[in-house]
Amino acid sequence: MHVTLRQLKVFECVARHLNFTRAAEELHLSQPAVSMQIKQLENSAGMPLYEQFGKKMILTEAGNELKHYSHAINKLLQEAGEVIEALKGGQSGRLVLSVASTANYFATNLIASFKKRYPETTFSLDVTNRETLLKQLENNESDLIIMGRPPREMALTTEAFMENPLVIIASPEHPLLKHKNISLEQLQDEAFVVREQGSGTRIAMERYFSEKGVRLRTGMEMNSNEAIKQSVEAGLGLGIVSIHTLALELEVNKLAILHVEGFPILRHWYVVHRDGKRLSPVAESFKAFVLQESRNILQLPKM
Ligand code: PGA
Repeated sequence: MHVTLRQLKVFECVARHLNFTRAAEELHLSQPAVSMQIKQLENSAGMPLYEQFGKKMILTEAGNELKHYSHAINKLLQEAGEVIEALKGGQSGRLVLSVASTANYFATNLIASFKKRYPETTFSLDVTNRETLLKQLENNESDLIIMGRPPREMALTTEAFMENPLVIIASPEHPLLKHKNISLEQLQDEAFVVREQGSGTRIAMERYFSEKGVRLRTGMEMNSNEAIKQSVEAGLGLGIVSIHTLALELEVNKLAILHVEGFPILRHWYVVHRDGKRLSPVAESFKAFVLQESRNILQLPKM
């Protein structure tokens, strides 16, 4: 049976109204055009689809069967149209997002708010350090990346959207907490627990102290902000982390921020992708959301 979608659409409408004139009105067609489509459909079905008793139109058994299928097919077509429109508008689709370890303290909030607006979107989130993010950029592995200062030597599109202050933390009993203006020299005798090589926080910290000509005792190295916070809390030394990681600990006084000259080191968060990358509509939509809404959604913990 050779049937066109157009014939099915016309038949569905006629079967619903049981009236050629009303179907023609709804479809913005002439009545002869509607009759012609139904006639062709009957020809390919090889059976009559309706009977006419005076003004009353009745579907035959074949007509009733076809009504059922044409209704289902039309609905599916309509659904397909809606799915495509949603993809075009960035209201659905899957986003592959990679964020710096430290950015994970707020990235999930951004995703949750975005999903409230666009529930049909799905995410794959990779949380990793700066070095791995650079490799992903190189290999074009993610749709979007949220990271600290992007490298200058790569051709990237980058947009800053929020501050990322790095602070020095101590356990609440640390003697330096009594001091208001701690000099960098005073820190030279302290033990520091630092992030792993390849972390953006680590690079920023090293750059800062080397510019100031100060050498720190950085014997203990850990590859997560949580491990650093717990070590500092346990009294293993001082730590340098982003304020974003501290919301909970500051609130319950498990950790305290030292007042050190030149601190916080002020960095920024960026949404990044390679130059010339063709962003999917959902990636475009998430990027715009982050740039416009992050200030309303996210709050930096108080220093
Ligand atoms: P990190 O990155 O989590 O690798 O330290 C954060 C940043 O680049 O500031």
